[in-house]
Amino acid sequence: MHSRILLTTGLLALPCLSYGATTCEYANNIENATEFALSYGFPLYPFRNSTIEIMIEANGTNKFYHATQLADPTFNQVVSPNVDTLYSAAVIDLSHHDIILELPEVNDRYYVFALYDVWGDNYLNMGTTSKSAAGKYRIRFSPSTTEAGLHLCSSVESKHGNNSECDGLQGVIDAVTPYGSMQPRYAVNSGDAEELEIIQSYQNQSSLTKVPKSQGGCSAIPAITMRLLNSTLSSDIATQVMQLTSRIAPYSPARNSSDQSCVDANLKAAGIEHGKYEPQAGQEVEYSFNVTQHQMSIVASSPVNSMSLGNNWTALQSSVQGDFGTNYLLREYVATTGYLMLKQSEALYPRYSTGDLSLSANEAYVFTFESKPPLIDKGFWSLTAYNAEHFLISNDEDVYSRGSNSNITYSDGTLIYGDNDHTERTFQLLIQPDSVKPPSNWTSNWIPAPADGGDISLILRVYGPADGVTNGTWKAPLVTKQNAITA
Ligand SMILES: *[C@@H]1O[C@H](CO)[C@@H](O)[C@H](O)[C@H]1NC(C)=O
Ligand SMILES: *[C@@H]1O[C@H](CO)[C@@H](O)[C@H](O)[C@H]1NC(C)=O
Ligand SMILES: *[C@@H]1O[C@H](CO)[C@@H](O)[C@H](O)[C@H]1NC(C)=O
Ligand SMILES: *[C@@H]1O[C@H](CO)[C@@H](O)[C@H](O)[C@H]1NC(C)=O
Ligand SMILES: *[C@@H]1O[C@H](CO)[C@@H](O)[C@H](O)[C@H]1NC(C)=O
Ligand SMILES: *[C@@H]1O[C@H](CO)[C@@H](O)[C@H](O)[C@H]1NC(C)=O
Ligand SMILES: *[C@@H]1O[C@H](CO)[C@@H](O)[C@H](O)[C@H]1NC(C)=O
Ligand SMILES: *[C@@H]1O[C@H](CO)[C@@H](O)[C@H](O)[C@H]1NC(C)=O
Ligand SMILES: *[C@@H]1O[C@H](CO)[C@@H](O)[C@H](O)[C@H]1NC(C)=O
Ligand SMILES: *[C@@H]1O[C@H](CO)[C@@H](O)[C@H](O)[C@H]1NC(C)=O
Ligand SMILES: *[C@@H]1O[C@H](CO)[C@@H](O)[C@H](O)[C@H]1NC(C)=O
Ligand SMILES: *[C@@H]1O[C@H](CO)[C@@H](O)[C@H](O)[C@H]1NC(C)=O
Repeated sequence: MHSRILLTTGLLALPCLSYGATTCEYANNIENATEFALSYGFPLYPFRNSTIEIMIEANGTNKFYHATQLADPTFNQVVSPNVDTLYSAAVIDLSHHDIILELPEVNDRYYVFALYDVWGDNYLNMGTTSKSAAGKYRIRFSPSTTEAGLHLCSSVESKHGNNSECDGLQGVIDAVTPYGSMQPRYAVNSGDAEELEIIQSYQNQSSLTKVPKSQGGCSAIPAITMRLLNSTLSSDIATQVMQLTSRIAPYSPARNSSDQSCVDANLKAAGIEHGKYEPQAGQEVEYSFNVTQHQMSIVASSPVNSMSLGNNWTALQSSVQGDFGTNYLLREYVATTGYLMLKQSEALYPRYSTGDLSLSANEAYVFTFESKPPLIDKGFWSLTAYNAEHFLISNDEDVYSRGSNSNITYSDGTLIYGDNDHTERTFQLLIQPDSVKPPSNWTSNWIPAPADGGDISLILRVYGPADGVTNGTWKAPLVTKQNAITA
């Protein structure tokens, strides 16, 4: 989960709205139509940004870019980078070809190949949690959203007899939109050179190959080019979203086809038609964008869409995380704060809901866990600290994160993730300025904060969460501020 876009929401005098689902409603005026278009089209803004960057790194579409090193404090490409998975990334363009994806054989760690449509919906994940078979998969654009996702050849063949489309393949993936992205990630256990080399060999075993389309379909879909993504765009974000929506929406179906006619009508009312955006009389896109930014925050914190993890931590409800269906405001919120979020079956992102965290030079936060988060086989969790700019914190220990892959200990010094530790005991992590070294029995549970204190943010990530986490039974840690711990 990463995004460079951090927009602040201005305070607007709005009625107190309480949104749950936000299925498309036919707009009855220009303001509503404009708000709808901006919210619906907003994910194209981070899509454009990341697509251009990946196309430059990978030299085009339908090719992998492989990150080969973990982020460190000098890394400022994305905010809140994680240091426990190594990524690859590809822009998927199915306008003129199908793609054969070769999935590597990975048995020693958590991994996921996450597939996203152009709207940022995580419509399919293959890897550890879905127990995917290594081998080849055909990816094709299939405009029917009811067919979207993976169809295993074993079941296709038993249903329809011999199927030439399946020749030599594990399965066929029907993509929701002709454009999208793919993000493979592999868990990093230690980060040493040997470990990274193992992951690089998995990256090298993965591939994307263009093949002719297996079925006809609309041949008028333009390919993704720099021109499509970067020509004659306004410098104003709101106007740019409208322009990108006019270029991409005509070829990219709504996530749920039941909404298509309403989406089309609202985009048209907002001035988006025939691949062009024309500003409309009475339309104030900048103001309308601010309104949607306010509304999306309300939707994201609505009790309907979140669940409690105890101790002032919440998480998105599983039904609305990662694949947003017709909840366009929530989709806009995630595109703004954590573009390319995974579905909860892959990862749960607990959010600490009590304001911002900040330390003075002689203060510390203690995170007290009553028990370990329950995980599936090869699942893992981590707590990572960031500075006020949401980048990793430079420190003498080169430690940015602690979790199930670190040598964290109970108060008696025994390893929490030692061999066969099945106890449910309480344990603590310490976030304390780098300038104040804690006593030695805290060292392995310490995440350094900036030397003189200051604003920080902490992100807890749980990959491969088991039922006990996703059903809210596991309690997230109690967070307390206290004096820094010294010998
Ligand atoms: C939108 O919000 C931003 C930031 O809060 C503010 O600077 C700007 O004036 C607002 N624009 C409009 C048109 O309301
Ligand atoms: C549309 O605009 C009207 C005001 O004209 C407002 O009452 C209504 O709540 C708006 N609908 C939506 C879905 O925003
Ligand atoms: C993506 O966004 C970042 C900052 O948010 C910016 O520095 C970078 O130039 C953008 N890339 C493109 C291709 O627009
Ligand atoms: C980039 O791709 C083009 C074809 O699209 C190819 O001609 C060129 O050699 C590639 N450049 C590199 C550095 O691989
Ligand atoms: C299925 O089709 C493939 C070619 O697509 C062929 O090689 C194979 O023999 C066929 N199998 C059966 C059982 O008909
Ligand atoms: C992966 O491929 C790259 C580029 O071909 C090569 O430099 C590297 O040595 C390979 N690494 C492994 C571990 O296979
Ligand atoms: C995108 O367009 C802007 C403005 O024309 C230009 O400055 C920038 O270099 C372009 N970016 C790429 C990657 O072509
Ligand atoms: C599409 O939306 C309708 C109405 O909200 C819902 O009943 C249906 O399950 C959705 N279909 C898909 C494939 O998400
Ligand atoms: C939760 O937050 C409230 C309001 O900030 C605070 O009063 C309360 O002590 C917090 N509870 C826990 C368990 O952290
Ligand atoms: C944990 O401790 C072992 C044994 O001392 C060491 O080999 C390993 O590198 C440590 N792991 C981490 C993540 O520090
Ligand atoms: C370190 O020792 C102190 C005093 O015995 C204890 O309170 C604390 O819990 C220990 N630290 C850790 C990480 O358990
Ligand atoms: C949550 O999952 C755990 C582990 O499977 C189970 O023991 C517990 O009963 C479940 N709780 C609820 C409320 O479903």
